[in-house]
Amino acid sequence: MTASLIRPATVSDAPGIAHVHVESWRSTYPGMLPDRYLVGLSTATHEKRWRGLLTGAPPRGRRTFVASSAGRIVGFSSCGPQRTGLPGFGGEFYALYLIDQAQGMGMGRRLLAAMAQHFLAAGTQAAMVWVLRENPSRYFYERLGGQMLAEQPISFAGAHLMEVAYGWTDLVPLARLAADPPVEG
Ligand SMILES: CC(C)(COP(=O)(O)OP(=O)(O)OC[C@H]1O[C@@H](n2cnc3c(N)ncnc32)[C@H](O)[C@@H]1OP(=O)(O)O)[C@@H](O)C(=O)NCCC(=O)NCCS
Repeated sequence: MTASLIRPATVSDAPGIAHVHVESWRSTYPGMLPDRYLVGLSTATHEKRWRGLLTGAPPRGRRTFVASSAGRIVGFSSCGPQRTGLPGFGGEFYALYLIDQAQGMGMGRRLLAAMAQHFLAAGTQAAMVWVLRENPSRYFYERLGGQMLAEQPISFAGAHLMEVAYGWTDLVPLARLAADPPVEG
């Protein structure tokens, strides 16, 4: 894959984000979410939703970022105020998804860092994320310094699952990961 760019999303990115959303969910969640739900995911529905979210000024504190490569959206991240009332964490990482071919090349790290930078610029020092306990991608958050905060049951699309919260009390080290790490050796 050619060089990638991380930037704030605009409304014209809605089709690309919707495509990544559907493709990534179908690749990530088999065995966790019901097949019929994954088969039924609709790019058109998600495109409409993202058009709504990205039209006009972003809702208070919310931001979406995209990763593009050769002019094509290959990933996105989305964040905003924390929604679950965990004390001490003003921000929440709502979503972070890459298509399979774009994984393992540092784009997830840079998309997470872009959200950390957004929070710090807005005066929010701490943030958290909810991730399904069965999702191996949760170890990505651990690798990037997330501390396990809580677990709770969640029902989604007829599946009864557990989700885990990871938190960062200081977003400064995470925000610094926007740059590629120095080459070792
Ligand atoms: C999770 C995800 C965003 C990570 O993005 P990525 O671009 O593949 O990860 P990066 O290349 O930026 O990896 C950064 C570091 O995390 C590590 N890492 C990435 N995925 C990991 C995993 N599943 N388990 C352990 N470590 C992982 C990498 O090895 C790398 O470590 P390094 O600094 O030693 O090189 C991506 O794999 C993805 O989209 N997964 C499917 C969707 C998903 O589950 N999203 C989370 C929903 S809450």
